Amino acid sequence: MSSVTVRVPAKVNVQLSVGPLREDGYHDLVNVFHAVSIFDEVVAKEAESITVTVNGRWSDQVPLDDDNLAIRAARALAKHAGRSYGADLIIQKAIPVAGGMAGGSADAAGALVACNELWGLGLPFEDLMEIAGDLGSDVPFSLLGGTAVGTGRGEQLSELPTGGTFHWVFALADGGLSTAKVYAECDRQREVSGARVSWPELSAPLIEALGTGDAYALGAHLSNDLQAAALALRPELAATLDSGRQHGALGAIVSGSGPTCAFLAIDATHARDLADSLTATGAATTTVAAHGPVTGATLL
Ligand code: C5P
Repeated sequence: MSSVTVRVPAKVNVQLSVGPLREDGYHDLVNVFHAVSIFDEVVAKEAESITVTVNGRWSDQVPLDDDNLAIRAARALAKHAGRSYGADLIIQKAIPVAGGMAGGSADAAGALVACNELWGLGLPFEDLMEIAGDLGSDVPFSLLGGTAVGTGRGEQLSELPTGGTFHWVFALADGGLSTAKVYAECDRQREVSGARVSWPELSAPLIEALGTGDAYALGAHLSNDLQAAALALRPELAATLDSGRQHGALGAIVSGSGPTCAFLAIDATHARDLADSLTATGAATTTVAAHGPVTGATLL
């Protein structure tokens, strides 16, 4: 095979509960991931060495050196297979960069699936999941997709049943936020407040809302422990969230570590109207309507 293409979705966190800081610098989480229909595409072509090219919106903000997650993923896969392989990776980005929607993780997951196929390795999904967990906390979910709860760093996943399709609007911000900085701000705020950090627990009403497909109940139970930290670093996001609520969003939340804001709509028509209202009022410059859950990294 000389070329393969993989499509990988973005995610929004419908519950992100952050436990105490661990000794390894990570936090134990209860992280409910939900894959949505904004996709990056990763093409892998036969080559002598592993290289990456990034096209599309914000592509200039993606590192092309050894920090690039798709390159790291391809290298980790070659190492796992115990051989030196090459691939030209060409990424078409639609997921915002450093936007709190797992764009980098999606590209890593895409590179794993694409190179596994290109190189004819035939590694089982479980092996890819293990390599994914070493690459980043959100990479296993980008492989899996759907809706799932992540514990540990967020990499230990259990799938969650959903009773229907949910319709979302995402307000994309100019410029990203560093995940590590948002977690650090969360720790700083907790230290200042002196409040005891409790062990994170899965929200029962949220699971019920997902299971029954009840968008109103899901909207009422969205939660994100990183939101206060993201708003401290980007105060203007508070007005974006407020505007979405005023225009009838069932729930409005910062996506992961931000700065993308996520709004839950009643249905596809409401999502389109909400997206238009957010841009017309100037609350957001760019909006995207999407639905979830969708499948994880998929070979086309
Ligand atoms: O795992 P990943 O490299 O995507 O995480 C990026 C950063 O986010 C980490 O370096 C850490 O600062 C923070 N993080 C955390 N706890 C987690 C996941 C991520 O503190 N469970």
